[in-house]
Amino acid sequence: MSEGTIEVAATLERCDPDTGRRWVATYRVPMAAGDHALNLLATIRRRHDATLSYPAHFCKLGTCGACALTVDGASALGCRVIVRAGAIRIGPAKGRPVAADLLTLAARPHPIRPEGDDE
Ligand code: FES
Repeated sequence: MSEGTIEVAATLERCDPDTGRRWVATYRVPMAAGDHALNLLATIRRRHDATLSYPAHFCKLGTCGACALTVDGASALGCRVIVRAGAIRIGPAKGRPVAADLLTLAARPHPIRPEGDDE
């Protein structure tokens, strides 16, 4: 492993919406130090399992809420979670219906409205 690379053991909570089957899968992934959880999920999808569903990237600034996940049991935004070496467990956002794997039905942008705009 090159300098600046960390080894992450990512346990993902998976779900097949067609059958209702739920399971966990663990992937060992070398990552660049400082990468965020959305990069981890993209790497897993690209290198390990192309069927993985997870919230698509939108603002990447922590403002739209589209990347809501559960990380190590706590609600988190995938674009704000810096992945550390070692184990991490990622599940779908709490309180939202699961469309597939880590993707929830409410996982879409919530536009930021200018102050005073009630519509
Ligand atoms: S992509 Fe994470 S909050 Fe918008």
